[in-house]
Amino acid sequence: MASTAINRSALVGATIMALACALAGKSATPGVPAAPLPGRAIYEANCAGCHGRDLQGASATALVKSDWSYGRTRFAISNNIRNGIPSAGMPAWGKLLGEQEQKDLLDYILATQSAHPSPARPLPPIIATKDYRLKGEILVDKGLTIPWGIEFIDPRHALISDRSGQLFWMIDGALDPTPITGLPPVDHATSTGGLFDIALDPEYPRNGWVYLALAHSETPGDASSPGMTRVIRGRIDGHQWHDTEYLFRATDALQLPNSHGWGGRLLFDKAGDLYFSIGDMSRMHDAQDLSRPNGKLFRITSNGHPAHGNPFPATNSITGALFAYGLRNVQGLAQQPGTGAIWGTDHGPHGGDELDILQPGRNYGWPIATYGVDYDGSIVSEAPERKGVERPVRHWTPAPAVSAIDFVTGALFPEWRGNLLMGSLSHETLFRFVVDGSSIIDEEILLKGYGRIRDVKIGPDGAIYLVTNNPATIVRLTPFVPILPSR
Ligand code: HEC
Repeated sequence: MASTAINRSALVGATIMALACALAGKSATPGVPAAPLPGRAIYEANCAGCHGRDLQGASATALVKSDWSYGRTRFAISNNIRNGIPSAGMPAWGKLLGEQEQKDLLDYILATQSAHPSPARPLPPIIATKDYRLKGEILVDKGLTIPWGIEFIDPRHALISDRSGQLFWMIDGALDPTPITGLPPVDHATSTGGLFDIALDPEYPRNGWVYLALAHSETPGDASSPGMTRVIRGRIDGHQWHDTEYLFRATDALQLPNSHGWGGRLLFDKAGDLYFSIGDMSRMHDAQDLSRPNGKLFRITSNGHPAHGNPFPATNSITGALFAYGLRNVQGLAQQPGTGAIWGTDHGPHGGDELDILQPGRNYGWPIATYGVDYDGSIVSEAPERKGVERPVRHWTPAPAVSAIDFVTGALFPEWRGNLLMGSLSHETLFRFVVDGSSIIDEEILLKGYGRIRDVKIGPDGAIYLVTNNPATIVRLTPFVPILPSR
């Protein structure tokens, strides 16, 4: 079996990753006891080198988890095994393994998955940082699958979106397990699709509008069916969503099949305009094509019209609403207090994650000028910098998988006022940046290794709220106030 593993991996192409995996695969195979499921031997011979012997991950991601990057349904996993994920360095197995072998493999992965739900990880009760000792509380640890965003309506009520397509209330720090029904269809079965961010109308108390970004596909669950990120608004009455209006819906001709990287972050600025991101949907060159919506940041009014003062004339269905382009997958957006600048995080491939100041009409370089190296080790662009392309405030290689950002406001953390908090997915890190104008002058890691951080928000109470996957939780961080012994 060991030599089969090497031959098959070698077929995959002479990438550094495949070589390393073939070596790892060789040492993982000898002395394997009789397999209880036929898929186990196939797994160990072909997959263990990259995904780890116990499916816990090695050079490639774990296969025992709730937070699947490319789809968690049987259909999606089967598709990913058969066709591979070329943009991510995952080989295609459809020609190397027979139908029965692929089925056995899938049964083995799903059986292992259900036998080992992802372990709950401890959150340190007290987290020491430069300026504060933080109290960490897990507010919600049940009822969510892949929570994505949090938005407070008032100090007691927050909405929580879950990539599985559900929207929930959190009331006084506890999840209301009854989901809000009546949302339009969300494609949560295809690849990385689902329900993404939530935003509230600046006039919410008066008009009740709630904004959502979601993945839409013509045939949900079928990766080959064309789809694109949509932005909608509606009102919520108890557990009922109604009055749906579509604010951004790409024409049929612009929908794309087999896509990853939907964007889906929302932000209202102080002027009352709504920003939203659409990722490159695995079509990197579209990010430079102003007639396509993917790989862009948009700015619209709350009614869905191009915002006043947008940089491009409305020459097609896209450009009027366009704000900035050359972006791979913006996962974080925040407006800086004081300067009013819009900051954003952009996912690179295997490297080249960026923190950018997003300005109207500017090109952020993907894929013509990036610090990133693609998943198969190939260089994406010859030069990381280029005339006419904005430079990031910071960039990271290897990529932490940068996610949500928020500036610290409120009264709870006076030492950190105006600092920028940033979460990350794969490195499971919460960063704090001390920002002076448009530069970062100091930084600190506040939390690492608890879970994938999807959203970061300063709540109405000034506390730091985190939305995490693996484990699927809502966490609150506040300054720890010791209880002094009474005299
Ligand atoms: C050469 C290394 C390599 C080998 C061998 C390999 N994979 Fe992968 N696989 C990857 C990479 C890289 C990814 C993309 C995710 C990441 O960056 O880790 C991936 C992703 C996946 C995903 C999607 C995971 C998700 O989060 O959605 C599945 C499912 C998967 N692989 C299954 C398999 C199976 C089953 C085998 C064996 C037949 C296999 N892989 C063999 C490298 C490999």
